[in-house]
Amino acid sequence: MLEISNLFVRRGASQVIRGVSCNFKQGEIAALLGSNGAGKTTLIESIMGLHPKDKGTIALRNQDVTHCSASQIARLGIACAPEGRRLFPDMTVLENLEMGAYLRRARPRVKENIEQVYSLFPALKSRADQVALSLSGGEQQMTAIGRALMSNPILLFIDELSLGLSPKICQDLFRTIRKIAEGGVSIVIVEQNAILALKHSQRAYVLESGKIVLEGPSEQLRNNEHVRQAYLGI
Ligand SMILES: Nc1ncnc2c1ncn2[C@@H]1O[C@H](COP(=O)(O)OP(=O)(O)O)[C@@H](O)[C@H]1O
Ligand SMILES: [Mg+2]
Repeated sequence: MLEISNLFVRRGASQVIRGVSCNFKQGEIAALLGSNGAGKTTLIESIMGLHPKDKGTIALRNQDVTHCSASQIARLGIACAPEGRRLFPDMTVLENLEMGAYLRRARPRVKENIEQVYSLFPALKSRADQVALSLSGGEQQMTAIGRALMSNPILLFIDELSLGLSPKICQDLFRTIRKIAEGGVSIVIVEQNAILALKHSQRAYVLESGKIVLEGPSEQLRNNEHVRQAYLGI
């Protein structure tokens, strides 16, 4: 689905992404782990077309998209629920969802997609006319994911899914994410919480200082000595 080879990205003077290679498969839940400052958000934003690349390639379904703009990437079907959710705080849940359907590919299906988002996240239906500002953290994350789904993505990044949310809310969100993946969407969960991410993903990458230092089936990484010491506190 998405294949990244030897990617280098700078932010200002610092080389933040330093030779990353990874791939994400259709219908799979993958996790991107790493501590604060490892470069996770920068990697996602680079794939989304928000940072120029110094070197390396990104291919989406064998099409070279390395230097595509953010709007081209969105049109090709990559969406993101960004770190911090970045909702429009004074707009209602429904209006926030509608904002996710600005692409032409999504417009004919707005009604249908809103119904689909409501069926995935019933809590949002009852909050439809409430402004985003008044939502709980969990509802805000649901709205951010729902907004991303409004563009009919084939690949969805969720940056810091669990941040600030209770274990119960996370559990519910992960269950819904599994449903979304079963519908054929590739999902990449970006997490500082390695325990959660490894529990709910099929494959994982560990990013440290802009490099992938480990990758493999999540089950296997859970038993990896380095992961246990550095991320699981065991
Ligand atoms: N706007 C920016 N300008 C320059 N450097 C930045 C900027 N944002 C983040 N960085 C640097 O990039 C590195 C990776 O940050 P980030 O991608 O946000 O990591 P993560 O999401 O894993 O916490 C950090 O060292 C950070 O200081
Ligand atoms: Mg981040």
